[in-house]
Amino acid sequence: MVVVAPISAHAAFDKAAHYFGMSIVHVPLDKRTMQVDVKAMRRAISRNTVMLVCSVPQFPHGIMDPVYELAKLAWDYEIPLHVDACLGGFLIVFMEKAGYSLSPFDFRLKGVTSISADTHKYGYAPKGSSVILYSDKKYRHYQFFVAPDWQGGIYASPTIAGSRPGGIIAACWATMMYMGEDGYVKATKEIIETARHIETQLRKIKEIFIFGKPEVSVVAIGSETFDIFRLSNAMTSRGWNLNTLQFPSSIHICVTLLHTRNRVADQFVEDVCQSVAEIMKNPDEKTTGRGAIYGMAQSIPDRSLVTEISHGFLDCLYSTELPGDEKNHMNGDSAQH
Ligand SMILES: Cc1ncc(COP(=O)(O)O)c(C=O)c1O
Repeated sequence: MVVVAPISAHAAFDKAAHYFGMSIVHVPLDKRTMQVDVKAMRRAISRNTVMLVCSVPQFPHGIMDPVYELAKLAWDYEIPLHVDACLGGFLIVFMEKAGYSLSPFDFRLKGVTSISADTHKYGYAPKGSSVILYSDKKYRHYQFFVAPDWQGGIYASPTIAGSRPGGIIAACWATMMYMGEDGYVKATKEIIETARHIETQLRKIKEIFIFGKPEVSVVAIGSETFDIFRLSNAMTSRGWNLNTLQFPSSIHICVTLLHTRNRVADQFVEDVCQSVAEIMKNPDEKTTGRGAIYGMAQSIPDRSLVTEISHGFLDCLYSTELPGDEKNHMNGDSAQH
């Protein structure tokens, strides 16, 4: 069973394929628009394809995939199409009312069979309450699990998580009631206005470029003149925390309500301008610090090494060893302590 997804689709799809013993085919992007290449997507379909994926927008560059064309493909080949609106779901549905037009991305298109949206992002609710919508309840049945013969009774569970926190669902509902549709439309208007302002201003800086045509809240930046991770380092030292992206090297800002406050966006643009000017005094200078680590991690040809190092990092998060314990383990006498 094979999932066909743009290379920009969230790694959560790789994770799901890994857990379910499925494989995933990554489809390249059109290098100019950063949307998935629809022709390549068609070519990637085989008799084993069980799902097509697209994102509105995708996380790395904030670009809306061409859902209309992909929905047509899905319909023609009779394959379910999942639209990942996790990041932008609670913006894109309000954009029209906020005064911004978008091409249809949802069940208005026959061919779209499921949509996910994260309530904890632009829905402002706590994490753990995200939603998935289906075009038909026959799809919902695939997530149900029933054990009719269990000694503990008939076990019927609707989601992967068995026990689920009611408090988080209540908090999510309360947040939505508090925000109301008007609140979401207002927030969307401010966020999109700010993202467009940042995009317009950054496009004036000739040593950097913006990936594709970002229509929602993420603006991704690259450079052909200097290593973009130097800009990431420079912005970090000015107090900004930008996401670093790979293949190709780039960074992005994900605009939130905080950036819509007085002068924040202008301060951001000013800081990018000044950082670029500083970098351009010596555009070929080597990247140092965290930026160098990101650059190096991309250049390791054996990706299993990166996985192994990441496992080590995750192990550290779970470790309860105190400093000094490690030495004892290494001496093989930990059992005596
Ligand atoms: C576009 C997109 N899809 C999927 C996800 C995955 O969500 P989770 O962190 O719950 O796996 C995210 C999370 O950031 C996202 O931005």
